[in-house]
Amino acid sequence: MQEFAGELRLSKKTIGFVPTMGYLHQGHMSLVQESKARSSCTVVSIFVNPTQFAPNEDLAKYPRDLKKDCLLLENAGVDVLFFPDAQEIYPEGFDTYIYPDSLSRIHEGEFRPIHFRGVCTIVGMLFNIVKPHFAFFGQKDAQQAAVIKRMCTDLKFDLEVVVCPIIRENDGLAMSSRNVYLAPKERQQAVKLYESLLHAQKLISEGVRNTNRIVEEMIQIIKGIENHKLDYIRIVNAVNFSEVEMLKTGADYYILIACRVGVTRLIDNELIRF
Ligand code: PAJ
Repeated sequence: MQEFAGELRLSKKTIGFVPTMGYLHQGHMSLVQESKARSSCTVVSIFVNPTQFAPNEDLAKYPRDLKKDCLLLENAGVDVLFFPDAQEIYPEGFDTYIYPDSLSRIHEGEFRPIHFRGVCTIVGMLFNIVKPHFAFFGQKDAQQAAVIKRMCTDLKFDLEVVVCPIIRENDGLAMSSRNVYLAPKERQQAVKLYESLLHAQKLISEGVRNTNRIVEEMIQIIKGIENHKLDYIRIVNAVNFSEVEMLKTGADYYILIACRVGVTRLIDNELIRF
């Protein structure tokens, strides 16, 4: 892959890169489309990265369907699928990690303390292998995209990170490989996460600026999910992810949600622009 990427660069091709963990859906494919529009060669990686899962998380049962993924990628006209072996990525003696700092300790980092260290380590490594000019990430994982942007700025990675909009199911549930874990009733009720985000948007459009009030009303909607455990709803500055009490004109914000529905942990968000 490294040699091939080197040759592509020598022949003045632009490399677009979409890192994934597979079990692909339309959310992933929207990143592929964006990459194809911007670059002459699109590389997709599939690697279920063990270092971003804590021991109590779903690494072993993370869904996989390489055959279907290959078909989707071929039909979309992807040039290269990079599908490395875990032994090759993390050989015996592997000892070097990329530790993001403050941004990795809040929100998702609070509930998944080693997660962003694993994400940055694998993404940094993949950047060194695939040598992309552009790398595409989903707003679905807004904090992940921000952590990676920060890493690229801080460590001077020579590429552009492009963040693409959230793709949703017809009823509004954000597409995710993990949605397959949901039992039918849970799947039905999970849409309340999106409904709470829509309600927040409505309150804001009506002039509400106090974030506590918005969060309170969102919680009331999420309480309609029978077997749920809300990890957090936070309204944060879209650049540094610090929490805000009052929304002010001229700034962008994310409303972030992380909630377990049954045993499945789901995240979603909405970007608020004034
Ligand atoms: P994965 O969950 O497979 O997601 C791969 C990319 O697809 C991420 O950038 C994610 O934000 C994006 N994505 C997922 N669902 C989406 C949706 N509904 N709409 C738009 N984009 C969506 O995120 C990871 O893998 C890993 O952490 C990875 C970056 C590959 C590092 O291991």
